[in-house]
Amino acid sequence: MLLRCGWELTVEAKADISAREQWSSRTAFVLAAVGATVGIGNIWRFPYLVGEYGGAAFILVYLGCLAVFGLPLMIAEVAIGRRSRLNPVHGFRYLATETSGSPAWLLAGLMGIVATLCILPLYSVVAGWTMAYLVRTASGILVGVTGDGARSIFNALISDPEKLFGWHTLFIVSLTLVAARGVRQGLERAVRVLVPGLFLILLSLLAYSWGGDALQRALDFMLAADFEAVTMAGMLAAMSQAFFTLSLGMGALMIYGSYLPGDASIIRSTASVVLIDTLMAIMAVLAVFPIVFSSGLSVAEGPGLVFQTLPVAFGRMGGGMILGSAFFLLLLFAAWSSGLSLMEPAVAWLVESGVLGRGWAAVVVGLIVWLLGIGVVMSFSAWSFEFTFADEVRTGGLFDVLDILSASILLPLGGLAVALFAGRTLSRKLMAEEIGGGEGLGFWVWYGLIKYVVPVGVVVILLRAVGGI
Ligand code: TRP
Repeated sequence: MLLRCGWELTVEAKADISAREQWSSRTAFVLAAVGATVGIGNIWRFPYLVGEYGGAAFILVYLGCLAVFGLPLMIAEVAIGRRSRLNPVHGFRYLATETSGSPAWLLAGLMGIVATLCILPLYSVVAGWTMAYLVRTASGILVGVTGDGARSIFNALISDPEKLFGWHTLFIVSLTLVAARGVRQGLERAVRVLVPGLFLILLSLLAYSWGGDALQRALDFMLAADFEAVTMAGMLAAMSQAFFTLSLGMGALMIYGSYLPGDASIIRSTASVVLIDTLMAIMAVLAVFPIVFSSGLSVAEGPGLVFQTLPVAFGRMGGGMILGSAFFLLLLFAAWSSGLSLMEPAVAWLVESGVLGRGWAAVVVGLIVWLLGIGVVMSFSAWSFEFTFADEVRTGGLFDVLDILSASILLPLGGLAVALFAGRTLSRKLMAEEIGGGEGLGFWVWYGLIKYVVPVGVVVILLRAVGGI
């Protein structure tokens, strides 16, 4: 009998699974991976970090981190995924035992799945805020709102569980429906609409900003390259943003890589993804800053930039209703296509364990995330609690717990696992074979980075997260 349940996965079972689905082409993979990587991090987090830490100087450090840590790690993750052609849990275990490593490596895959299940409820609730703001801007409620008004509207929303509950449910149901249909019929069809949609909305927002004189001010701000503002905190923020924006360390790219056709070049595919993700983040800054500047507001407001500063700006400008709706739709698309990739590792794991069919696996994962999300929905009201982490007092209940656990702890740990696995456990020969192009200079650069540089970078982020530095 094929032993597929639990952790055991025999070679026969693996051969059986290899009839599994694949993306229809390399382009489909790139679209899906762009959908996974371009998320709330690009449209919300990146602009406020650039505003906070000094424009172009921050961007330069960030680009360096992408090249040194981000791209090599993405190559490793996708290569491990494609080599195993399995979900992260079975994939780590299978490759480890094939190369006489420890089967305990499956814990790395499991940790990734836990991370996705922590981050998805957050994503869902923030997507809920976004939907609420979409309705508000489109209906004109926010026209003429003041800074104080915008703040109290935001606070009223996040402490209103009933409203959030409905949006959260809608978001999870829509992800579950897509996940249930599988790789080609579900994921691929969704990203073929969402990703070009994202790009077009961003372009139109940019075209609008291009028209006004505020663009100049935005460019001046960015190009002033205030290196003083890039403090140690700024450098570390750039580094963790590079990991976060590329969705690394959670098995999301591993599972997407496991569906990548065998003849597609991993280097070219991942380089395209990193490039497009970066382009979209910079476009988001160039779209958001002029809007904020043209209303005489500041871009250095931190996380409040999108839900508190921008609504004031939209409320003041002609055409703000349309522009604002386009912006929140953009954020929603970004969250949705990332949400799809956050569900996939857990769904594929259940399916490939032979426990459930695809449809039920999607329902079970959707249900778990939905339940966790209820805790997040209540985080700023009835179930809020306070705790201290790394010398900082946090008041956002489960929201903050999941945020810290996923983005600050599990994500770097997952990145570390991938780097050690690809650089040390698996043989150099095997990796060269999978990545392709032989052991040329490019390969050696990658290998050096993944073996020595990436682990150090990840450990620094980890220490920083727990308050060690
Ligand atoms: N990259 C996403 C963003 O920029 C966030 C993210 C982190 C993510 N890890 C992920 C998305 C894993 C999907 C899968 O917002």
